[in-house]
Amino acid sequence: MRHIESMFRLSTEDCREILSLSKSTKARWALGERPPLLQGRMMTLVFEKPSLRTRVSFEAAVAQLGGGSVFLTCAEAGLNGRESIADVARVLGSYSDWIVTRTFSQKLVEDFAQYAGCSVINGLSDSAHPCQALSDMFTMIEVFGSLEGRSIAYVGDGNNVARSLAVAAGLLGVGFTIASPLGYELSDDFVARLRKTFPKGNFKFTSDPRAAVTRADVVYTDVWASMGQESEQDLRKRAFAPYQINGELMSAAPAHAKFMHCLPAKRDLEVTDEVLDGPQSIAILQAANRMHVAKGILLWLLEFDPA
Ligand code: CP
Ligand code: NVA
Repeated sequence: MRHIESMFRLSTEDCREILSLSKSTKARWALGERPPLLQGRMMTLVFEKPSLRTRVSFEAAVAQLGGGSVFLTCAEAGLNGRESIADVARVLGSYSDWIVTRTFSQKLVEDFAQYAGCSVINGLSDSAHPCQALSDMFTMIEVFGSLEGRSIAYVGDGNNVARSLAVAAGLLGVGFTIASPLGYELSDDFVARLRKTFPKGNFKFTSDPRAAVTRADVVYTDVWASMGQESEQDLRKRAFAPYQINGELMSAAPAHAKFMHCLPAKRDLEVTDEVLDGPQSIAILQAANRMHVAKGILLWLLEFDPA
């Protein structure tokens, strides 16, 4: 049974297969084709946090390929103490081909994968956002032609998005530099696992945002306070102020560099309008590609044979 609890679960070959399935379904969609590849299939989404892109891109992906979906909050699913996680997972798994979760704890996703008996997809947890990272690699391939020799400078919090992006970069041979303020870096445990998994990986860790972006093909950022960290917003605003992506920081990057953001963005905090709406920004393309890569993920989890 295939699952995507985090990027660490995938191999380089798995990523390539997902990206290739995503590319072919996007090409068919562009021709107006909606092949019923998922007819009779059922996806259940169980979310503990809000979502625009992840929820709608997965639901649209299934609908366009002929399948169906049901969305539940964690409370509606009974995870607020009504039933055990194992029972909820087993029951939902008996109705579904995939369960997409959005949770605080990573353990909850892993429990779903253990008990559901169907494929489980992490649609974001506090420690991982693999669907975003896969989709971002897909977008980079579209924009640059390939990932060969490319590098990402991630400026900001060492959060779920940064972690999954770093692992995706390791899997696909992309350089990854992260600039974070003191106290908000990727955790030591995570960095040790990253280095152990990718001993030849091109990773750099710094606190200097200008140094990070000087050779980057992509300048990437995310919110300073993630979902669940709202009470830290003011504290984080002070620590992260020098890490804002604005015109001045973009001018320290190569002229061809693109700006990426997983969205939602807090305008005038981690990024200015000038950059997010500017000519280097590919944030809306990133969001649009979530749906195409959701299709690749769903097909790959079913071990779909494109031949
Ligand atoms: N990027 C992303 O996952 O967006 P949502 O939180 O809206 O799903
Ligand atoms: N780091 C953000 C990503 C949102 C898509 C969060 O977890 O809120």
